[in-house]
Amino acid sequence: MNRTIAIVFITASISFSTSSIAGPREDLLAQYAVAAKSSGFSAERGQTLHTRNFNGGKPVTPACTSCHGSDTRAPGSTPIGKSIEAVAVSVTPSRYTDPAKVEKWFRRNCTEVLGRECTPQEKGDWLTFVMGQ
Ligand code: HEC
Repeated sequence: MNRTIAIVFITASISFSTSSIAGPREDLLAQYAVAAKSSGFSAERGQTLHTRNFNGGKPVTPACTSCHGSDTRAPGSTPIGKSIEAVAVSVTPSRYTDPAKVEKWFRRNCTEVLGRECTPQEKGDWLTFVMGQ
């Protein structure tokens, strides 16, 4: 009896530690990779998405950098002057650990900037870029 409990406990702690090694950001990337049927993500493409100007969205926010700023490690600011913490994971370690928050803001911000939702490939590239910053 006690032995069974011990085994269950050990199994549970092993699977817990494996999932904490991967972490929520890696889980998100894995989900985007499946959805995109992607062979991989590129920080370089993510950087291009982050800095490039689009004309399908709102004219005041043609780029991600319109709010997040051109320096990923510095705070950004919304058009009405609300400060935004840096997008770089090295500066704001809590970033992209809540999948619902990530999805909510991708939907909202991509629509503002590109005039459409970002594809899973674009989200994976962007996330790869800021995780390396
Ligand atoms: C209109 C201003 C604005 C623009 C433009 C903008 N963002 Fe954001 N973004 C915000 C705000 C405000 C938040 C929420 C506050 C926070 O997370 O600090 C946020 C949060 C996020 C988050 C969630 C962060 C987290 O910690 O989970 C992601 C992902 C994101 N933005 C991606 C993008 C991408 C990609 C673009 C360009 C396509 C972009 N944003 C353009 C204002 C903006």
